[in-house]
Amino acid sequence: MELRVDHLLDAEKATAGRLPGRVGLPVILTLRRARDGGSFDGSEAARVALLQRLAGQGFRYVDIEEDLQAPALDAHIRESGARIVRSLHDYSGVPPGLSRRFSALARRTDEIPKAAVTPTTCAQLAELLNVFHGLGDSERVLLGMGEIGFPTRVLAPRLGSTWCYASPTARAVAPGQVTPVTLEDVYRFRDITRSTSVYGVVGNPVMHSRSPMIHNRGFTALGLDAVYLPFQAPDLDGFWKVADLLRIKGLSVTVPHKQAVLSRAVRGDAEVRAVGACNTLLRPEGRGSWSGMNTDSEGFLAPLRSMFGGAVPTGLGATVIGAGGAARSVVAALSGAGARVLVLNRTIENARTLAEVFAARSGGIDAEGLESARGFSDLIVQTTSVGMSPHEDADPAPELKLSGREIVYELVYAPESTCFVRRALEAGCRVVYGRKMLIAQAMRQFLLFTGREYPPSVAENLERGFD
Ligand code: ATR
Repeated sequence: MELRVDHLLDAEKATAGRLPGRVGLPVILTLRRARDGGSFDGSEAARVALLQRLAGQGFRYVDIEEDLQAPALDAHIRESGARIVRSLHDYSGVPPGLSRRFSALARRTDEIPKAAVTPTTCAQLAELLNVFHGLGDSERVLLGMGEIGFPTRVLAPRLGSTWCYASPTARAVAPGQVTPVTLEDVYRFRDITRSTSVYGVVGNPVMHSRSPMIHNRGFTALGLDAVYLPFQAPDLDGFWKVADLLRIKGLSVTVPHKQAVLSRAVRGDAEVRAVGACNTLLRPEGRGSWSGMNTDSEGFLAPLRSMFGGAVPTGLGATVIGAGGAARSVVAALSGAGARVLVLNRTIENARTLAEVFAARSGGIDAEGLESARGFSDLIVQTTSVGMSPHEDADPAPELKLSGREIVYELVYAPESTCFVRRALEAGCRVVYGRKMLIAQAMRQFLLFTGREYPPSVAENLERGFD
């Protein structure tokens, strides 16, 4: 447990020394000044005096910043039997020469060096991960703050950090911290060891992804020594270094990297070739080249097949709204299944380009396009980002009338119910929620990653809702 004395009220600061005696845990005493991301705004003399007063009251560790020169305080802490955590912080980047600086942090062998820095690219995350190499089994705490650094928090036990930080409420004490419950329930933190296999989803943005919850629940149910993390990747080049350093074995790939990753994947399956995009990368040994696969089309078809009791009926008339990457997988899947497809898109030219690849029809979201949709109305698939939070009230095709006989398939899964879905339900349509496709494509990935079927009971639970 860490007690952040800088966040306490003055009256509480005076009695903070009572805590260690009352909790059955080792407690870290920290009094962080504002410029290191804390709330203490008094003088350095006042800070040292308060630390001096509190140390010696049963705290197991005392966190002192790298540049604080207070030999009397150091000696007092040692005499009390506590250990010094010598820390450095960087809230804007990864400082040059971090490796050297980190190795020089501890002033004596009984001190624990700690660095919390902020990678702003995957290349910087790779620099941070490189610092771990060569540290052996020595006690240390090294972590990346922010979204890009997040994997270092969950992987603390695998990377050999002595502990990791979590905040008990939604108000994180540092950028990228999650609650202890999230660490345990979503990321199975206590099961992670030095030999845990690493999987993840690479994209930008990606932190909202539900894929970690889906895959990690599967690992837990099957007792597999593996963990699945979000990798926020503005720079794919830097990310490949991260993947090598962590020996990542499998990846889900999401926006905007589904095409770009193909330059690294040696073999695409038939679907990758048909769709020209890849949502799954595999490398079972955690090194060497990647195989690229695509489970999006199969994941899209699975809920329809179960709705139709086996196969999608040949000649099914389908209107696909949108012409981006997601639409491409959908059109590929529907054409492959023998459906008649019409692509409607805000930008007609994009609809036409996509439709031509699969010999489908195309149009705009205008009077003419909506008129043609009457002949393609067994199934309406909504593939645009319209309706996604925070734009829940937007409808991608407000003029598209629904009679109630259509099946409406909404790819957006957050929020669960979009404006378009609400309109479909009001009209009496059967609705397929985006969550079903997300789970179905993830189940296929899970099989590719692990060689094991995703546990059906876990899938059924997730299909009822993610929360
Ligand atoms: P993805 O890979 O997730 O499908 P994308 O490639 O950016 O994302 O595609 C976004 C799709 O949503 C496109 O069809 C886009 O239409 P344009 O081709 O006209 O850009 C569509 N889209 C995005 N915002 C939209 C909006 N406000 N109204 C209608 N369509 C929209």
